[in-house]
Amino acid sequence: MVELEIPLTPGLSAAADGDYDNRHRLAEALGNGLPAISSQARLIGGLLDQDGFSRQLDFSSLVESRNRLFSSATSNLVRQTCELKLPFEIDHEAALATYQVPDELVQFSEAIRMIARYEHSTYPQAQYRHGDQAALSIDQATVAPGETQRSRKLLEVHRDGTLGQWQHVYVVTDSHPTEFFEWPEPGVAGSGRGIEPDELGPALVPPEYEVAFTNSTNLHRSPVIEGGGHRTFLRLSYTHAN
Ligand SMILES: [Fe+2]
Repeated sequence: MVELEIPLTPGLSAAADGDYDNRHRLAEALGNGLPAISSQARLIGGLLDQDGFSRQLDFSSLVESRNRLFSSATSNLVRQTCELKLPFEIDHEAALATYQVPDELVQFSEAIRMIARYEHSTYPQAQYRHGDQAALSIDQATVAPGETQRSRKLLEVHRDGTLGQWQHVYVVTDSHPTEFFEWPEPGVAGSGRGIEPDELGPALVPPEYEVAFTNSTNLHRSPVIEGGGHRTFLRLSYTHAN
């Protein structure tokens, strides 16, 4: 386990959050009478080091040492995924966050540092529903031509998260970035799959190696990779209690 100490200095992308009102939470989607907030994704700023992020993972020791892996590596390393909780502590006085990261995932430290710095310096008052932990998803895969990495239904959009819970979601990929859409009607996790692809407006497509921030009302999808290819996907999400 590696302990990451992350100074909570603002300045990643001050302008990006000017119109984001976190207090409205699920807004109209939950019938609380507050105006809907934008579900659009935004970039938090800063490119990740490419070599570190894209390195081929070796999960084998993680599989053996912890029962926290959803699906383990296949024999030919076509796809490796893991879903785990990253515990963290925040020292507000020292403006410091401390995250515990398994040794096997240390190549993602830079991404975790950048996301944690943004989350905790932009929302210092946030309370987290499941205690102080973030949910980390890693997916590294070789995608066949004409398919997507994350979904079997091509072009279908969805919302992340759990019904009735407010999440902040951070996503970064090294190729064929996730496509995020603005949608005028707010919605919650589990809804949105019936929306026809041709009803969607233009997608916001982040640059490769750049972190996008959104919330659990956002519609998005994993893109079709026409020529196929290798892709690394990372998502870190926080379930807010307030
Ligand atoms: Fe998603």
